[in-house]
Amino acid sequence: MTGNPIFTFVWCGIFASLQPVQSFIMPNRLNNFNDVKINETFDFIVIGSGPSGSVIANRLSEVPEWKVLLIEAGGIALPIVEAPGICSAFQFTNYDWGYRTQQQDGFCSGCINKTLKYAHGKALGGSTIINFMIHVRGNRRDYDRWEAMGNPGWSYEEVLPYFLKSEDAHLDKSDPGYHNSGGYLSVTDVPYRTKLVDYVVQAAQEAGYPYVDYNGKEQMGVSYVQAHLRNGRRCSADKAFLRPVMDRKNLKILTNSRVVKILIDPVTKETYGVKFAKRKKYYYAFAKKEVISSAGGLNSPQLLMLSGVGPKDHLEELDIPVLADLPVGKKMYDHSTFLGILFEINQKIVFVYDEVITSIKEITDFAVLGKGQITSIGGVEALLYFKSNVSTDPDPLYPDMEFIVLGASISADNGVIMRKMFNIPIETYNKIWKKYETTPAYQIMPMLVHPRSVGYIKLKSKNPFHWPKSYANFFSDPENHDIKTYIAAIREMQRLNRTPTMRKLGATLITIPIPGE
Ligand SMILES: Cc1cc2nc3c(=O)[nH]c(=O)nc-3n(C[C@H](O)[C@H](O)[C@H](O)COP(=O)(O)OP(=O)(O)OC[C@H]3O[C@@H](n4cnc5c(N)ncnc54)[C@H](O)[C@@H]3O)c2cc1C
Ligand SMILES: *[C@@H]1O[C@H](CO)[C@@H](O)[C@H](O)[C@H]1NC(C)=O
Ligand SMILES: *[C@@H]1O[C@H](CO)[C@@H](O)[C@H](O)[C@H]1NC(C)=O
Ligand SMILES: *[C@@H]1O[C@H](CO)[C@@H](O)[C@H](O)[C@H]1NC(C)=O
Repeated sequence: MTGNPIFTFVWCGIFASLQPVQSFIMPNRLNNFNDVKINETFDFIVIGSGPSGSVIANRLSEVPEWKVLLIEAGGIALPIVEAPGICSAFQFTNYDWGYRTQQQDGFCSGCINKTLKYAHGKALGGSTIINFMIHVRGNRRDYDRWEAMGNPGWSYEEVLPYFLKSEDAHLDKSDPGYHNSGGYLSVTDVPYRTKLVDYVVQAAQEAGYPYVDYNGKEQMGVSYVQAHLRNGRRCSADKAFLRPVMDRKNLKILTNSRVVKILIDPVTKETYGVKFAKRKKYYYAFAKKEVISSAGGLNSPQLLMLSGVGPKDHLEELDIPVLADLPVGKKMYDHSTFLGILFEINQKIVFVYDEVITSIKEITDFAVLGKGQITSIGGVEALLYFKSNVSTDPDPLYPDMEFIVLGASISADNGVIMRKMFNIPIETYNKIWKKYETTPAYQIMPMLVHPRSVGYIKLKSKNPFHWPKSYANFFSDPENHDIKTYIAAIREMQRLNRTPTMRKLGATLITIPIPGE
């Protein structure tokens, strides 16, 4: 049955590349959708339709007198992206920009070409078309600290009403006052859970962690994951925030339209519009009030630099006229992970993708009822937030680690997608993971939530169609604190697996050394 995930993948690929068909499938209620005009003027221009751009375009166009343009480089995704169980496959379609990190020493030495696939969504809905749908609001202390750094209005108390306003939550465990129903964005439990995750959630409590609503009063503790799902299907940003307002006359959406430059008056330094490419032609659109760049973590800084806002030296070396000398692209944080910790168990209570995607019952359960294993958000089942014993933060409730508990090993899809997503060489995969295609095992992905290593982004050239270069710089912090945190996390994972509950499953750490320098 090994061929079946390949089949699913090809199936997704074919569907995803049928761009022209998409406009017929999309419920197209917008009268001025993709109606591009020469030099049209708006009040606001929003670049990029990810969760940021979709929300901004929705909220701005609530004011009928404001004319809003939302401009997106990608197209409208096909409904297949709504199947949560196969979400990792969409990184291999044209709904992803296809970026990779630059090769650097010090991390990823075991990956193919020592680089990482740097997935970024390219579609109406941005990365919420391809992402894992995990709903994490963030720790209240993050907001409070941003406010303390000089950002009025960003304290948790001040942002919480907006989270509540957006949410349509239906959760088993929900702290009073921290969730709401009736908003645009659906947040639910995942309809299907493996038996394994019940064991892990139990084990975490035996290890001393409280069972919490991690988007509620306190984040620290263990929880089943909360997800951006509606009726067991992906609730992407466009589905949540754009489709319900598509008939607003003051909102125009242009897809397959790529902004190549933000127009800035060299004298007043005010933005007044954008230049964009659509169907191999250039157009301009003008903004009376503001241009909002919500083009994502890599493309927003790229666009700013192309428009003359960035580090002077770098722009000058590429012959881009400098309008403002600012450290754009200089501070990139990302959550790395470590995949090497894998536990063998003695019961078949994990996901096996072959069995899922070839089961008529699973497919009908999903398609008809929005239930069953295909509603799993790429195998992510529970989260655990904790403060490792190397944390130097004075606040006892400020975690530095997130454990993402998967209901299987990353080999559950027989190495067809997850292995490629993480750029694992086939030799390494065969040495460590191959056996666990058939023997039950599971993985926890530790994620640094406050990395100290800082990466950066540079332009490759002044050509707006070239990829920006991203230097992730993982584990480059001078005190090696990030590595120390991972080691502490691995010890914690081992402790979790020594609890009576995990012993019942015979959870055993796989100790085969991972090849790499
Ligand atoms: C594989 C993957 C899994 C993830 N899993 C999760 C998860 O489970 N939970 C979670 O909370 N977060 C997750 N994330 C992160 C989350 O999706 C992002 O943080 C979020 O989407 C960022 O929103 P954004 O609006 O800033 O940018 P994006 O969502 O990246 O959207 C930017 C949009 O701008 C468009 N754009 C870029 N350049 C231009 C241009 N020049 N002109 C016009 N349009 C342009 C892009 O095509 C894109 O549609 C994941 C991300 C990825 C890639
Ligand atoms: C549109 O705007 C551009 C940029 O300002 C200008 O060069 C061009 O002449 C304008 N075209 C028309 C038809 O007004
Ligand atoms: C690795 O790098 C080589 C040389 O740059 C390239 O030809 C090859 O496609 C790369 N492999 C992957 C999987 O990226
Ligand atoms: C953290 O815990 C681990 C495992 O119990 C232990 O080996 C290590 O010494 C501890 N580190 C610190 C800084 O306390």
